[in-house]
Amino acid sequence: MINYNALYEKAKEVLYKNWMIKYTAPSKYLYPHQWSWDSGFIAIGYSHYDQEKAQNEIISLFKGQWKNGMLPHIVYHCDFENYFPDPDYWMTHINENAPSIKTSGIIQQPVHATACLYIYKNAKDIKKAKEFLRFIFPKLKSWHEFLYRERNPDNDGLICIVHPWESGTDNIPVWDDIYRRIKVEEEKLPVYKRKDIETVAKEYRPTDKDYDIYIYLIELFKELKYDQKSILEHSPFLVKGPLLNSILAQSNLDLAEIARIIGEDYKIFEEWYELTKNALNEKLLDCDQHIYLYYDLRNKKLINTHVSAGFTPLYAKIPPDEEAKCIFDYMNSGSFCKLGEKCYAVVSFDRKSKDFSPHHYWRGPIWVNMNWLIYKGLKKYDFPEFKEYASYIAKSIIDLISYYGFYEYFGHEGKGYGAKDFSWTASLLIDVLFEEKGLKEP
Ligand code: DGY
Repeated sequence: MINYNALYEKAKEVLYKNWMIKYTAPSKYLYPHQWSWDSGFIAIGYSHYDQEKAQNEIISLFKGQWKNGMLPHIVYHCDFENYFPDPDYWMTHINENAPSIKTSGIIQQPVHATACLYIYKNAKDIKKAKEFLRFIFPKLKSWHEFLYRERNPDNDGLICIVHPWESGTDNIPVWDDIYRRIKVEEEKLPVYKRKDIETVAKEYRPTDKDYDIYIYLIELFKELKYDQKSILEHSPFLVKGPLLNSILAQSNLDLAEIARIIGEDYKIFEEWYELTKNALNEKLLDCDQHIYLYYDLRNKKLINTHVSAGFTPLYAKIPPDEEAKCIFDYMNSGSFCKLGEKCYAVVSFDRKSKDFSPHHYWRGPIWVNMNWLIYKGLKKYDFPEFKEYASYIAKSIIDLISYYGFYEYFGHEGKGYGAKDFSWTASLLIDVLFEEKGLKEP
């Protein structure tokens, strides 16, 4: 029998261990700085029991926002020896929009408006929460404006990424084809030393070849002085996918709600939601294959690789009922995890694919954040089998963490991998416990 209250206390301890006074690190050892989408998820966990920390998490993150609205994927509040790329590596001062605090020069998933709405909805002190929303609203708005202005190359509402790290799913097999095309010019690659493999076994992390591409791309962006237009023109990695766009679509809806709460104009956010939703359905949904796909803008083709991110449009209620059922059938199969079979829901990559690799970072294992998105999405539909699957995902999240610990990710057999005591594993577990098990703070 799992003691949910004790598990909740353990989750709070994990967040406390990673708390760095101004922000919460995803993992003190592997990722000691502040990461953008991590902090969004972390704030959702805090919103259930510590409003102030939740608000501060977001406020600290937005200290790194660039003048053009870009929210960078890492904000460096301190200097640490144990992470590469270090703050100075990015040289963001070469762009006039960069803030005085050190940051990276690329983005990550825009989950922040959603996190802010959670903070408001779970707030004990509504007055303070409204003040917080008033403070953060213009920053969220300019973040979304940046995405629709600078990262919307076809003007269709599908936002693109220019670097695998922007996806948050660094070595997902979707990129394999693109990597084969990218020619790393050795002379442009600086001498660098990976630090991640000092903390986590090399075999589970992205490969050295992956890292060369990550660094090569950043060198290119530096050469282009982080000018978005030039990056879109020259980056050999240019992709539009279901994960970022679904997260953004939901954030648009949540930003519209925030605007209504504080008496601001909300229409543009609803329009953006519709725009992105329609484009996802028209351009990335492959009904024959029962999944949403990524689009490679350089090669001008859909990438036929089936990953669990392809189900995340459910999270923002993007697919209409019939299409939702169609993608659900694929997820609810031996490829990801079929209800009634002995498996944890859901693996990040089709188990039947030849490249499925059960313990290798984003190439097969189970990730709590990805499954949380799918869990939330399934609950937005009225079909009983969706509700049943959502409960099964929640059970998988709870079981995995209570049996194996608060790991960064899990193998399909259950064991934990990557960083130990990982923040979003803890924070999203808290959200699931509150929602599924009715946990309450006194
Ligand atoms: C890392 O360092 O592995 C991160 O994913 C980059 O954001």
